[in-house]
Amino acid sequence: MALRRLLLSCFGGDNNKAPVVVGIEKEFEPSESISVSPKYEKSYIRSQSSSSIESVQISKRRSTTRALCVVAKHTYGLASDIPYPSIDTPDEIIIRTVATSLNPIDYKSVDYNFCMPSFPWIGGREVAGTVEEVGSNVTEFKVGDHVWASTYYRDRRAGTFQEFCVVPQHTVLPLPTRLDFNAGACLGVAALTAAMTLWKWLAVEMPSARPKTAATPPRHILIWGGSTVTGQFAIQFANRSGLSVIAVTSAKTRCLAERLGAANVITRDHKTNDEIVAEIRAITGDDLTMAIDIVGNTTGSSCLQALSATKASTLAPLAFLKDGEQIPENVTIAPIEMKRFIIEEGNRKYAEELNRLVGDGSVSIPEIEVLHGLEMVQEGLEMLKRGDMNGRKLVVRVA
Ligand SMILES: NC(=O)c1ccc[n+]([C@@H]2O[C@H](COP(=O)([O-])OP(=O)(O)OC[C@H]3O[C@@H](n4cnc5c(N)ncnc54)[C@H](OP(=O)(O)O)[C@@H]3O)[C@@H](O)[C@H]2O)c1
Repeated sequence: MALRRLLLSCFGGDNNKAPVVVGIEKEFEPSESISVSPKYEKSYIRSQSSSSIESVQISKRRSTTRALCVVAKHTYGLASDIPYPSIDTPDEIIIRTVATSLNPIDYKSVDYNFCMPSFPWIGGREVAGTVEEVGSNVTEFKVGDHVWASTYYRDRRAGTFQEFCVVPQHTVLPLPTRLDFNAGACLGVAALTAAMTLWKWLAVEMPSARPKTAATPPRHILIWGGSTVTGQFAIQFANRSGLSVIAVTSAKTRCLAERLGAANVITRDHKTNDEIVAEIRAITGDDLTMAIDIVGNTTGSSCLQALSATKASTLAPLAFLKDGEQIPENVTIAPIEMKRFIIEEGNRKYAEELNRLVGDGSVSIPEIEVLHGLEMVQEGLEMLKRGDMNGRKLVVRVA
């Protein structure tokens, strides 16, 4: 009963219609809270409540929806009777989730209890679907449009592990006609992170902005973790931006990185990181000034060793750097914060550029494995955790 009462107080709704939850009732502990820009704080911290803002169009409205919740620390539960969400500000859009996909952050936040301001919480950060409702300021989208979006963990309504999610219009992109919903569901996290890392934080020119002639000699970029889903996008974007990619993968995914355009692929099997660094330096000498680490911990240190010891250089650590890591004076650590996409509207340009590249087919989507139903999210996250995806992206079909 306590869990039911909690869900009702968090999601609002009719007291006579308690949500149906499958899950183990445990203690409820708030997870860490993280500050957001004042501009967005109001709309993002708000939980689902009835809204006074009129939506422009309302299709047949349902009273309840389903969601895969984190009901308590380390505990998932399927709620099948939570209230249909509300539009709280005029810039918001309700998307009917057709497909969402799974990312390491989805299980890490549950396992290590972060990025969930309270329980029950709804995870999931990338979605493709159809526009269900639009707020009165929304001009770019109409009901029925096919779209994708990258969402933010500060708003329970924005979690994509539910049948409907609510997001601000600047975070929504039209689904290119050549992509289906499953492909669109892969763009909001890995693809967008690769795009912003390269074009925003490493300050590489976007393909549409760069002169058509290639730089000579080529500027190298190291992508450690070239077969990760994020790495696959990063290789392709870097290529389109005229960089010469050195990717580190295992032997079994070497061909994948080559096919995507890596000029040099260094396989990591049976090698120490120092041996890999020596191979990188044999290619670049002391000229490598950009690196993206998509694996973490020890590989971050190795990227630092591979970077030039004398030239101004930047490392973008997408996973994490070892505690107490010594950063050489000539190296800048790029602050990768994907919340910037949500809280700074100007960053939409990076999503538009990636949409253009996947839309015209010059950047391809990773191989996709599809699971069916919100019930499969938890199992999918376990598959991701086992790390046996070999570059495939896990998509969960919700509708
Ligand atoms: N900061 C952010 O906003 C952000 C955004 C996106 C992702 N990330 C982080 O980036 C990481 C990757 O995410 P993802 O979804 O792209 O991952 P993923 O596709 O699930 O990555 C799995 C792949 O990692 C590769 N790998 C494992 N150990 C490696 C090593 N020592 N060297 C090279 N490759 C290795 C394996 O490929 P091989 O078998 O080929 O080696 C494996 O197939 C995660 O830690 C994630 O949390 C962070």
